[in-house]
Amino acid sequence: MKKVKKLVVGNWKMNPVSLEEARKIVGTVKRNMKNIKRTEVVFCPPFVYLSPLSKAMKGSLSLGAQDANSETAGPFTGEVGHLQLPQFGVKYVIVGHSERRNMGETDEIVNKKVQSVTSLGMTAIVCVGESSRDANGEYLDFVKQQILKALKDVPKKSFENIVIAYEPIWAIGAKQAMTSLDLHEMSIFIKKVLKDSYSIASDGVRIIYGGSVDRVNASSLVKEGNVSGLLVGRQSLESKDFVEIINLVDAQ
Ligand code: PGA
Repeated sequence: MKKVKKLVVGNWKMNPVSLEEARKIVGTVKRNMKNIKRTEVVFCPPFVYLSPLSKAMKGSLSLGAQDANSETAGPFTGEVGHLQLPQFGVKYVIVGHSERRNMGETDEIVNKKVQSVTSLGMTAIVCVGESSRDANGEYLDFVKQQILKALKDVPKKSFENIVIAYEPIWAIGAKQAMTSLDLHEMSIFIKKVLKDSYSIASDGVRIIYGGSVDRVNASSLVKEGNVSGLLVGRQSLESKDFVEIINLVDAQ
């Protein structure tokens, strides 16, 4: 299998409020990408910034969308379709983020979106994660079911266009990330699910972590947590911190 790069994804959510600010963040990060060789950096801005940022990002940075609709076209007021994204250079699409699931996105919708994103040759960043933990380990089965439902009927050849983002909901927007030790346990578990259910080799699908990542915990989450990268929310809007996170991941 070819050596795949590590991944650092910035999920901007509904930020920043101006295009000018968005350009500044991209500019700062781009200027600091020269020594980054082993890590792909993806920005997922709000839809309205995709087109204006697409040119600015060419070269060292990749563009992703935070979500989109799997329908081809039609009467869906307010929606943006997957099919509309590649013309702006979008390569990645986040699917099933907990904030979208919270707005009513079901496992079935997530599954449709994974199929549509991958069939268009883009990479789906499939978000999974439990809302809380329990002593009996039921959260493990919950995560397993989320993965199986999201990947249902996805052809094996599409797996190279899938990234699993493990984001425990309790660690998103929180004060602290989960511990690297707990992440290591979860990354082994997810690899086992992929192996048992789809015969995917342990490095066959990239697994990344998201939830309160910062420059203090980034290094150990990747190294000791045994993941291929990070999905970063708040700290991806702080360009200097984000640059530091990228460097720390690249150094692993
Ligand atoms: P956070 O967000 O880094 O601000 O916790 C992560 C995410 O929601 O993807």
